[in-house]
Amino acid sequence: MNLSKLALSLGRSATLKLNEVANNLKAEGKPVIHLGGGEPEEKIPGGADGESRKLLDSGFVRYTPVSGTAPLKKEIAAYTERYYGIKPGPKNIVVASGAKQAIYNFLISVVDPGDQVIFPAPYWVSYPEMVRLAYGTPIAVRPREGQLLVSAEDIEAHLTSNTKAILLNSPNNPSGQVYPEDFIREMVELCEARDIYLVMDDIYNRLVFDGLKAPSAFNFSKRPLNESVIVSINGVSKTFSMTGYRIGWSVADEALSQAMIKVQAQVSSCPSALSQAAAAGALRDEGGGFVENLRQGLEKKRDIMVAELSRLKKVKLHKPQGTFYSFPDFSAYEKDSRKLSALLLEKALVVTVPGAEFGLEGHLRLSYCGSEKGIVEGVGRIRGLLD
Ligand SMILES: Cc1ncc(COP(=O)(O)O)c(C=O)c1O
Repeated sequence: MNLSKLALSLGRSATLKLNEVANNLKAEGKPVIHLGGGEPEEKIPGGADGESRKLLDSGFVRYTPVSGTAPLKKEIAAYTERYYGIKPGPKNIVVASGAKQAIYNFLISVVDPGDQVIFPAPYWVSYPEMVRLAYGTPIAVRPREGQLLVSAEDIEAHLTSNTKAILLNSPNNPSGQVYPEDFIREMVELCEARDIYLVMDDIYNRLVFDGLKAPSAFNFSKRPLNESVIVSINGVSKTFSMTGYRIGWSVADEALSQAMIKVQAQVSSCPSALSQAAAAGALRDEGGGFVENLRQGLEKKRDIMVAELSRLKKVKLHKPQGTFYSFPDFSAYEKDSRKLSALLLEKALVVTVPGAEFGLEGHLRLSYCGSEKGIVEGVGRIRGLLD
């Protein structure tokens, strides 16, 4: 095999690797409990189903415009206005095959070899490899001991003349923490003062608990959207339980969006027409309360996860404020999270994701998007083994 240096340098997705191991064990008939998942178990909203069926029945499932269909963009504009207080025009929106491709479109459009992209740890597992895929240098900023959030000063200390973008994900995968308003405001001010892009990966922004709201970066911007350094990323994967449809999008200034369209045109031509129809159907009336039902269900499961984890003698936990992940500190049991995760899979048949994959050792990511029974039994098995 004669692979490129780039292909050889990329790591395999840790979460996909774990899924494979868990599936193999299940196929052998082992009673595996999956606390490593990254998708809700709910069925998709009826509107999504109806719209994609209508298109399928028409018999014409064709290429769409590269940046997405007009009906979907209309829904995305309305959604953005509802939750961000700004109304993007169609030229500010690029629909992509998942939020992941939207982030990729951005990185390929702005990063030159050697440019740095900064993000706080713990971070979504894909960020470092995605930045490398764009020949950039990923810079992870770690929080202080015992913390899960970095400060604006921590980020500022890592800025160099090569910094092209800061990438934030709030509520955060894996910590479940929501970045406070002051931090987001400081990030906007910093990026605007230095002309650095601020990418807000808002894929979980509606899945927040305890009456909290994830602050919108646009609230603190002094610039109109077409001069903005803010790029908002969102999608239907998590909020509408539509991971398999692969629809995400970016909202950004027109010039940047134009560059992202050029990239996408050569990578995938356009996202699937059927999936775009489904996403428009899901967004239209928000699935008739679908998002709120999902959010409430997750808040309940979050409470169950927190209660179960609190029964472990030496676990430290920052209560998740959103998403469907918890990120407890297990270092009092075992500092090497990969070792601990492997042990839990082998001896307790429970899948967890090692904190090291998210840039923060000593922690494990435990999801609560599965069944309540699974959460109770899974954490119970961990307790049985460790305590
Ligand atoms: C933080 C974060 N961003 C983006 C994505 C990707 O979303 P999509 O399925 O829309 O590509 C995920 C999925 O796990 C995620 O956790």
